[in-house]
Amino acid sequence: MPIANIAVIGAGTMGQGIAQLCAQQGYTTWLYDVQDGAAERARQRIAQALDRRVAKGRMTTGDADAALSRVSVADSLAELSEADLVVEAIVEDLAVKRALFAELETLCRADALLCTNTSSLSVGEIAAELHTPQRFAGLHFFNPPTAMKLVEVVSADATAQTTQRALHDFARSLGKTPVAVSDSPGFIVNRCARPFYSEALWLLEHGAAAAATIDACLKSGGGFPLGPFELIDLVGLDINLRATETVWQAFDHHPRFRPSPLVADKVAAGQLGRKSGVGFYRYDSDDHTGAA
Ligand code: NAI
Repeated sequence: MPIANIAVIGAGTMGQGIAQLCAQQGYTTWLYDVQDGAAERARQRIAQALDRRVAKGRMTTGDADAALSRVSVADSLAELSEADLVVEAIVEDLAVKRALFAELETLCRADALLCTNTSSLSVGEIAAELHTPQRFAGLHFFNPPTAMKLVEVVSADATAQTTQRALHDFARSLGKTPVAVSDSPGFIVNRCARPFYSEALWLLEHGAAAAATIDACLKSGGGFPLGPFELIDLVGLDINLRATETVWQAFDHHPRFRPSPLVADKVAAGQLGRKSGVGFYRYDSDDHTGAA
């Protein structure tokens, strides 16, 4: 089945970027969020992001206008019934994701592909109660989706090979590099990233160095494009904490994957990183202005 219409559900950090990417690559894209006005605000941020691409000479004004015209805001899930492919990028919560897909399964066409952008939840568990799990898979983009090349295509036991192939083709059509990964905790990137974050958090917890010092060392000495604290702020502390907790639980609370109380305290205080204006750093628009 040709894929032309994409529904992106959840208009936060990832949904916004995935919608922009799909629209840039020529797909008719619908954006839906349960929070009033969130999808419309995300569309406005997409317009600003496209303007920045034009200003940097990466895109013509005509292409930017055309991309934006392909992004529509849906006011209800029912408006997404004609989607060929759904990408879910809502809160990282198993029960909430399951409830959403149960509803989508009744609303969407029988041949529509259903995908989750989950960072760390089990794709098989999200699909466990679906009647048509063969059309369900993980399509895991990285932040920011417009820039990061990798897409992990996560298959659960019930995912059909036709679904896997269609998702690999779709990711390639977005200019991405799809990699087939199995449904194991944290998949590949988020599993390997846990020790990167946790060692840095241990250093900070023990007062061995400031966050900015650790970030600077790993960038200039380790060759990483972002330090661990800059990366946690970009990802969102709430998302980072959820991913750590999921992997920790999956490994029977092995101390190697223990969530840091520093992150948990900041999440409880609403310090979620860039999206809330403060995390390990403070943010003024997109740039950090100093330690939090
Ligand atoms: P976010 O917190 O920025 O945005 C989530 C959005 O989903 C919010 O606007 C919220 O109102 C909306 N939402 C919540 N429940 C909903 C529902 N039932 N129906 C419709 N909308 C709903 O979160 P973010 O960072 O965009 O993450 C979304 C998903 O993508 C999560 O599963 C996360 O694990 C995953 N992810 C996040 C990455 C990151 O770097 N932040 C990277 C890759 C995956």
